[in-house]
Amino acid sequence: MGAARTSRVIGALCATVAVAVCAVGVLAGRTAFAQAERPVVSRGVHEGVASCADSSCHSRQVDSGVVVRQNELITWQDPSSPAGVHSRAWRVLTQPRAQAIARKMGIGPAEDAKECLGCHADPAPANLRGAKFRVEDGVGCEACHGGSSGWLASHRTVSGTHANNVANGMRALENPKVRANVCLDCHFGSSKPGQFVTHRIMAAGHPRVSFELDLFSSLLQHWDVDADYVKRKGYAGGVRTWAVGQAMAVDRALTLYSEPGGRGQGAFPELYFFDCHSCHREIQDDPKARPTWEANPGRPIPAGQPPFNDENMIMLAAAAQAVSPSLAARFEADSRAFHVAMARDRNESMRAAGRLAASARALSDAFARHDFSRRETLAILDAVLTGEISKRYTDYAGSAQAVMAADTLLNALVSSGQADRGAVARIRPTLTAAYAQVRDPNAYRPGAFRTSLAQVAQAARSLR
Ligand code: HEC
Ligand code: HEC
Ligand code: HEC
Ligand code: HEC
Repeated sequence: MGAARTSRVIGALCATVAVAVCAVGVLAGRTAFAQAERPVVSRGVHEGVASCADSSCHSRQVDSGVVVRQNELITWQDPSSPAGVHSRAWRVLTQPRAQAIARKMGIGPAEDAKECLGCHADPAPANLRGAKFRVEDGVGCEACHGGSSGWLASHRTVSGTHANNVANGMRALENPKVRANVCLDCHFGSSKPGQFVTHRIMAAGHPRVSFELDLFSSLLQHWDVDADYVKRKGYAGGVRTWAVGQAMAVDRALTLYSEPGGRGQGAFPELYFFDCHSCHREIQDDPKARPTWEANPGRPIPAGQPPFNDENMIMLAAAAQAVSPSLAARFEADSRAFHVAMARDRNESMRAAGRLAASARALSDAFARHDFSRRETLAILDAVLTGEISKRYTDYAGSAQAVMAADTLLNALVSSGQADRGAVARIRPTLTAAYAQVRDPNAYRPGAFRTSLAQVAQAARSLR
């Protein structure tokens, strides 16, 4: 089944992501990112990528070495790395795989289909597209940074402080909550037009969508977190970015699920929200080979019930324990109640989803204000890899999140100067082996995965 291929990130990423954080360990963490909880709906006109592309602005060939690199456009277009993938997002719609999806769905050419353009191009509505806006540019600068009409002229002048830019409509992407909201629109889905990969789109051949805020941010990186950056914008740090990303992902999934109708089509709820392989499993006739599913202590549901995909809930539970035992207990109780309600009654499950989303929001607020210490980061790493949490890796998606989390937490320890690069490098081979366990969703075996993860945990003990 072609569509079961996971993200290229998990498929290909087995080595350290180079995190361009220049020794800001001591500076990190001081900023409390408590503002702007909801997405700032940018009302600015999207002037188009060409408006950013002057050689004295963002299209230099090489890093300028002052304030910002100024070669952001070249990075955004880089065909050889994931950092260049957004510039190609529209173009892939013209290619055979996308055309085949659109044909199966009967929606006309993919490059014109509203079902695709919400994520494969800048989704600015028609009345907010400036003269140089081109759909063909794919996910352009303003799809993330916000429509620039209010700040394009002023952001390079003396008065162009970051606060002024933000007041004029630039999105404060250094704030993990703001960033998560922007990325999740396309890397999970939203209720805005054309921003949801339904199970129908998946069944027509779309790859599955996998996301982790900090790791994917590093892959995108066209900026340096140096002293100058921290002074202008503050720096959330990798652990905080990861934790907020998990909380916001839980909130997003449950909020979309609990919308009236739950986005369901026909007689069924929308299957995108569920663990794919709980349905897409081989059926064994040999009683000795069954069951192939495993009971999961985090979700007390009967056999045969499709489980809601809990990949981010598991990570959030691990992060919550380290920061707030009371919020962790509330989240745990709400998430169990949600799974139980899912097996019982549709309306009850909607209400339980609303409560769980609220718990996740409380956690994202707590994380946004929290400064993660080395001790806490190691505690989260330990929680992700061992103990009660690790018993919850019974399905593919949660397991893939666990490996990405270990990667992110180890990277954060190195880039904040809280762990020795060499010591972490010695843990890497076990992490590479764990990545291999989640490369092919169809070959995923929970027992083998947990054994592999235990080896990461064993190696990571050297950091204590
Ligand atoms: C909610 C946002 C969203 C929508 C809607 C969406 N996509 Fe995607 N698409 C993505 C993301 C994100 C990826 C990358 C997934 C990954 O690798 O993690 C992707 C990847 C793809 C790929 C693989 C690209 C490659 O480089 O291999 C194709 C093809 C594709 N989408 C086609 C479509 C088509 C056709 C539609 C409309 C029917 C569509 N997409 C709708 C978000 C979306
Ligand atoms: C997929 C989302 C995304 C796209 C597309 C994108 N950026 Fe960014 N950009 C970010 C994020 C996230 C950051 C880091 C957070 C921050 O400092 O704003 C960033 C940082 C930057 C910075 C560094 C700011 C600093 O203060 O040091 C510049 C400059 C920048 N982007 C310019 C561009 C330009 C120009 C384009 C288009 C060619 C572009 N970006 C496309 C997400 C994006
Ligand atoms: C408007 C939609 C949109 C937004 C907003 C967006 N992305 Fe994407 N992103 C995509 C699509 C579509 C793809 C797949 C493109 C392709 O494969 O051609 C993608 C691909 C990626 C990839 C490569 C994934 C892979 O499997 O190779 C990374 C990394 C990424 N995005 C990070 C981010 C981050 C971090 C943010 C937020 C700062 C973000 N994106 C915001 C649409 C978006
Ligand atoms: C509740 C059960 C259920 C869940 C959960 C589920 N699916 Fe499906 N899926 C189905 C059914 C039923 C079909 C239609 C099968 C058929 O027509 O033979 C299907 C079809 C598909 C197909 C097309 C298969 C083919 O051979 O053409 C793909 C691909 C797919 N699903 C991917 C996914 C992904 C990815 C997820 C998780 C995001 C997922 N499914 C979650 C039940 C499920």
